[in-house]
Amino acid sequence: MESGLDYHSARALLEWQIELGATDAIADAPIDRFALPDKAPKVKKPTAAEPAKKPESVDATAAAQQAAKAAGSLTDLRTAMDAFDLCDLKRGARQLVFADGTPGARVMIIGEAPGRDEDREGKPFVGRAGQLLDRMLAAIELDRRKDVYITNVLPWRPPQNRDPKPEEIGMMKPFLERHVALAKPEVLVVMGNISCQAVLGKRGITRLRGQWDQALSLPVIPMIHPAYLLRQPQMKRQAWADLLELKARLGAGS
Ligand code: URA
Repeated sequence: MESGLDYHSARALLEWQIELGATDAIADAPIDRFALPDKAPKVKKPTAAEPAKKPESVDATAAAQQAAKAAGSLTDLRTAMDAFDLCDLKRGARQLVFADGTPGARVMIIGEAPGRDEDREGKPFVGRAGQLLDRMLAAIELDRRKDVYITNVLPWRPPQNRDPKPEEIGMMKPFLERHVALAKPEVLVVMGNISCQAVLGKRGITRLRGQWDQALSLPVIPMIHPAYLLRQPQMKRQAWADLLELKARLGAGS
């Protein structure tokens, strides 16, 4: 082996990385770290006559607000989000996960953040939780492709699917708000605690689920996240009640 590692050591190192949670090699091309210089390049020390430059601090939330406000359509918004470089999650993700379904549908579903499958496919809710979501919608005669519009609070996959940080949510919220304004749904469904917190400013999904609230000038219903239902199937009874509540609201408004 060129690196000097034998098969068993290389395999043990790989298994160790997988155990730590590595799921993907994210560089476009493999990096031969053995060929890299041993020492970090020398940084020229600033002299007294030439003081160290302070990195300019950028207000990421203000930048997001400006970019979101300037977007006049969903296509513009997608482009603006794709070009937004101030959220670190972007660097660890394969691609932007913007939305799926039909813009302008009566129901807009807001999930938390992409997972591995969504990151790969570039669409929200396509993994196991997404498949359960499709079945939940079908149970109240909603077709995922045409009757709903689906997005997430965060458009990039957090590393190892960790919970999004409050500062990441705060930074990306202007985009979410603009997304809702441009998609013009009649009602919002917020899936899980993270989305509930981001949209309604409240946590406690098992208490809040199924009760209509108001945010972003729209009626909002919090629901249990399908990923949670996969782990806690006994909660499906409550999820079913919430789906019926949504169905009744749509029926009353049509
Ligand atoms: N969970 C979410 O909240 N969103 C997705 O897109 C996938 C899983």
